[in-house]
Amino acid sequence: MRIDIISIFPDYFAPLDLSLIGKARAADILDVCVHDLRSWTHDRHNTVDDTPYGGGPGMVMKPQPWGEALDEITARDDVVTADTGESAVAASGVEDTGKASERPSGPRLILPTPSGVPFTQAHALRLSQEPWLIFACGRYEGIDSRVLADAATRMPVEEISIGDYVLGGGEVATLVMVETVARLLPGVLGNAQSVAEDSFAPGAMDNLLEGPVYTKPASWRGLDVPPVLLSGDHGAVDRWRRDEALRRTVRTRPDLLERIDPAHLDERDREV
Ligand code: ADE
Repeated sequence: MRIDIISIFPDYFAPLDLSLIGKARAADILDVCVHDLRSWTHDRHNTVDDTPYGGGPGMVMKPQPWGEALDEITARDDVVTADTGESAVAASGVEDTGKASERPSGPRLILPTPSGVPFTQAHALRLSQEPWLIFACGRYEGIDSRVLADAATRMPVEEISIGDYVLGGGEVATLVMVETVARLLPGVLGNAQSVAEDSFAPGAMDNLLEGPVYTKPASWRGLDVPPVLLSGDHGAVDRWRRDEALRRTVRTRPDLLERIDPAHLDERDREV
């Protein structure tokens, strides 16, 4: 997967060199490219914002640097454009010798914004199937709306919120989404089973929170690991984990219970 990130604070993305994502990048599972929006400004002060039409507080990000950034980043000659299925090279009329089937298809543009649709694990799973994502990190009061309208003529565009609170800009939200998507890419997590058992994973754990976990020693500061986990009885362990997940969900997220597919609940679940 290829990910481009456009921001006026490229340094925000230093953590993408670390841990799972750093390893995924080193293993060529993930190609992340961070761009400084100011490199598409043309004035001495590298201006990216201006006062809002209609008045009001704060500043709005100017369309010009965003338009040029997206044009340049999406003008890779090894991709198939979204609307025509032709390569960008073919669409430009330049002779194209490569085979379209060997090129990645076009990008999907993600705009993190508190006004977007809520980000969920289902969202992350869908995005993890895409070959190419571009994150446009807005600051101030947001990006001039024409940038999205213009981009949407060439590529799918999604406005996504990571929660009902307001961050200083889209950078932290982008880190959240990139990490959530990247750990779902094949080969990123050592144990594929842990994705299947995640809270919110589709299937049996859909809309259930994971219960408590323990490691050695079996007794610590007078607190014992639940004996069933030491029993070696895998059926009993699975049942205990499911009971704990149901109890935790009832306790901390009762709103999720209504969203559980009844087909994923057995008789015993209903007793919990
Ligand atoms: N930018 C500012 N707040 C945000 C949020 N909650 N989600 C996504 N992007 C944001």
